[in-house]
Amino acid sequence: MEKTFVLVKPDGVQRGLIGEVISRLERRGLRLVAARFQPVSHNMAERLYAVHQGKPFYDGLLDYIKSGPVMAMVWEGPHAIAAVRQTMGATRPIEADPGSLRHDFSLEVGRNLTHASDSIDTARKEIDLWFSSEDLVDWSRDLDPWIFEQ
Ligand code: RTP
Ligand code: MG
Repeated sequence: MEKTFVLVKPDGVQRGLIGEVISRLERRGLRLVAARFQPVSHNMAERLYAVHQGKPFYDGLLDYIKSGPVMAMVWEGPHAIAAVRQTMGATRPIEADPGSLRHDFSLEVGRNLTHASDSIDTARKEIDLWFSSEDLVDWSRDLDPWIFEQ
């Protein structure tokens, strides 16, 4: 089953939107695999955003992600990576589709509430960075055959 890494960033936590994010992913049919509420160290921030090093927004991005605790999660399901990014909406909230989280709850790219992996390779790396294999819960729901075709 495809897995993806999701963060409710510090602004989402401060604004009391952890439940809203989880609720939307549950409602979509995705299955929670792991979750941890934690602060973000400088090292973790650098590793998460290594791909953005050198970009003009990099320093602000590191300050943003370290500015308070985050809710780190792994979710799974068919097409989980694309499905979660669609539920989050485009990176820039003013370009996010109506009905997406970023459209409904945010305005600025530097306060866009959530992070979600953008590829299978990134998802694997991000899950490994934040969780150990014992943290990942292998379970099923009675409802799964009504949501997952296979
Ligand atoms: P994320 O990684 O957080 O899920 O977001 P994303 O894939 O939609 O966007 P990405 O290009 O990976 O950028 C990571 C985060 O950096 C901030 N950002 N600021 N000021 C800017 O131009 C700018 N561009 C990106 C956003 O917080 C974005 O989510
Ligand atoms: Mg990204």
